[in-house]
Amino acid sequence: MIYRPLAIDQEIKFNKKKFIVSKTDTKGKILFVNKNLCDISGYEEEALVGSPHNVLRHPDMPQSIFFLVWNSLLRGEHVSAVLKNLARSGEYYWVIVDFDVKKDQEGNIKSFSSFQSSAPKQVIETMEELYETMLKIEKKHGMEGSLSYLESFLEERGVNYDNFLDEIIKPKGFMNKFFGGMWG
Ligand SMILES: Cc1cc2nc3c(=O)[nH]c(=O)nc-3n(C[C@H](O)[C@H](O)[C@H](O)COP(=O)(O)O)c2cc1C
Repeated sequence: MIYRPLAIDQEIKFNKKKFIVSKTDTKGKILFVNKNLCDISGYEEEALVGSPHNVLRHPDMPQSIFFLVWNSLLRGEHVSAVLKNLARSGEYYWVIVDFDVKKDQEGNIKSFSSFQSSAPKQVIETMEELYETMLKIEKKHGMEGSLSYLESFLEERGVNYDNFLDEIIKPKGFMNKFFGGMWG
């Protein structure tokens, strides 16, 4: 068992070219981690492998985000998320995560993998505000409350969860509109 550190308000920043990789079984037990994950989280490889992936869960993260992630994964679908993670030191680091599903030849789910990279400042700013609100609602009204808030938040912007992440992670829409408007 890994002990749970107390969260401290100190950010770990790391190079955007440093990619984190992890792989879990279908229940979220870690099967593999790359060296970058160990370096950034501060855990030894042998401490992480065999532990549940929620060892990195930060108390500022709303439960409903993981609910959405697991919903997609268990349906066999790829999903993305922005996560605030808790390092062994209690410090935090923000990552953009691409989750993938490995299936056998019959289409049965075998394992999940995550590919994580450092989240840029503007992504953190947007998600930090959203998660803070969701967490407050979740504490008062449970996950149902925070999920309906997220639904309305997205509806308001006329996007679904995937489009919203796409827009803030790679704001191509904005660039296209901007340059399209300038030259088009
Ligand atoms: C491949 C994979 C990678 C994951 N990576 C993280 C991670 O970096 N941080 C995190 O908090 N949860 C991660 N999770 C989700 C955890 O399994 C877990 O659902 C989450 O931490 C919430 O914990 P809880 O459901 O026990 O409350 C990952 C799950 C999978 C399948």
